[in-house]
Amino acid sequence: MQPVETHNMQTIHIKTATDRYSQILAGEDFTKLQNHLPSQNVIVIIDENIFDLYPFFRNFNCIKIHASEDKKTLETVEDIISKLIELQADRSTFIVGAGGGITCDIAGFSASVYMRGLQFGFISTSLLSQADASIGGKNGVNFNGFKNMIGTFNQPEFVICDTNMLDTLPQNEFTGGLSEIVKIALIKDCKMFDFIEYHADAIVQRNKTVLQELIAKSIQHKADIIAKDEFEKGERRILNFGHTLAHAIERHSDISHGFAVSIGIMFAATISKHLDLISNNDVVRIKNLLSKLGLPVHTNIDSKMLCKAIIADKKKNDDEIHFILIQAIGKSSEKSIKINDFKNLVSIFK
Ligand SMILES: NC(=O)c1ccc[n+]([C@@H]2O[C@H](COP(=O)([O-])OP(=O)(O)OC[C@H]3O[C@@H](n4cnc5c(N)ncnc54)[C@H](O)[C@@H]3O)[C@@H](O)[C@H]2O)c1
Ligand SMILES: [Zn+2]
Repeated sequence: MQPVETHNMQTIHIKTATDRYSQILAGEDFTKLQNHLPSQNVIVIIDENIFDLYPFFRNFNCIKIHASEDKKTLETVEDIISKLIELQADRSTFIVGAGGGITCDIAGFSASVYMRGLQFGFISTSLLSQADASIGGKNGVNFNGFKNMIGTFNQPEFVICDTNMLDTLPQNEFTGGLSEIVKIALIKDCKMFDFIEYHADAIVQRNKTVLQELIAKSIQHKADIIAKDEFEKGERRILNFGHTLAHAIERHSDISHGFAVSIGIMFAATISKHLDLISNNDVVRIKNLLSKLGLPVHTNIDSKMLCKAIIADKKKNDDEIHFILIQAIGKSSEKSIKINDFKNLVSIFK
């Protein structure tokens, strides 16, 4: 392993096929925000928890929001827009979103629609958003209970991922974020999976050197995928590994996204094994690793109910479900599964 000092910044560049550009600053000190701002006219849309925890933000014009899924709505965007008007934001205003995935999604969307679009950047504060959610230019809000139903593809100018901010992250939020890192390793990078296995104890103890390495690797993989497929027409879909079941679980329980993804990963691994793509030993490795990281690997939610939710979600694809699987640790595979076969597979998942 290459040692990485905290605040030994790694810059990852995203350049999409449509020439949109974004730079991700993994390990940057968030108090160096000024160095990255293209304008002095700045408004920060901030998670109220982050505002309370980090006095640095009192130096800025801030619009505080409550980061919860039920506030990730058009009403919140309307409130933000009213405040932007009050603060006389104009086309020279630069918007900074400071918070986890919810705040970045709302801030990126508000910035994208206000006056037909202002420039924006993020200070990404949760593990889930540093490793995944704040990267890639998807932003938006929920609508009538449908997740992320309204939004845009629009790249932030920069994303600052300061590992030191993870110190204040509640335990459940930290653990949940690890599932997206395991997901990336499983679909893209077997060495990264070995690395996570080897450093599992250090990860659980929030060792910054190891975390920064993993966050940077996750970002690099996501950046490579987005460079090829910004608008999710093809390869970007592999990022949905583990998410088909996860979304159904989230709809039928209070289980958080990260925890639901862990169960979804286990489900996708079990199907991959059932279709002889991976070995039983691989499934056991995945299960042991998720468990060691403190993530759940099964659910008690009724399998028929989950199956119904998945099928309802995917019914556009006639009698088949398009599913992301793995054909080895570190290698994804896409398969269409007949709905009847799929029902049997859900029932074998314990
Ligand atoms: N745009 C995308 O590509 C994409 C991808 C994946 C997920 N998402 C979205 O991301 C959201 C989930 O993101 P999340 O898990 O970061 O949720 P979040 O923004 O709600 O943050 C989780 C919780 O942690 C708190 N928090 C965040 N950083 C903290 C810190 N440094 N110290 C203390 N507390 C902190 C927040 O206040 C919140 O209570 C979902 O809405 C999901 O749809 C978006
Ligand atoms: Zn996810």
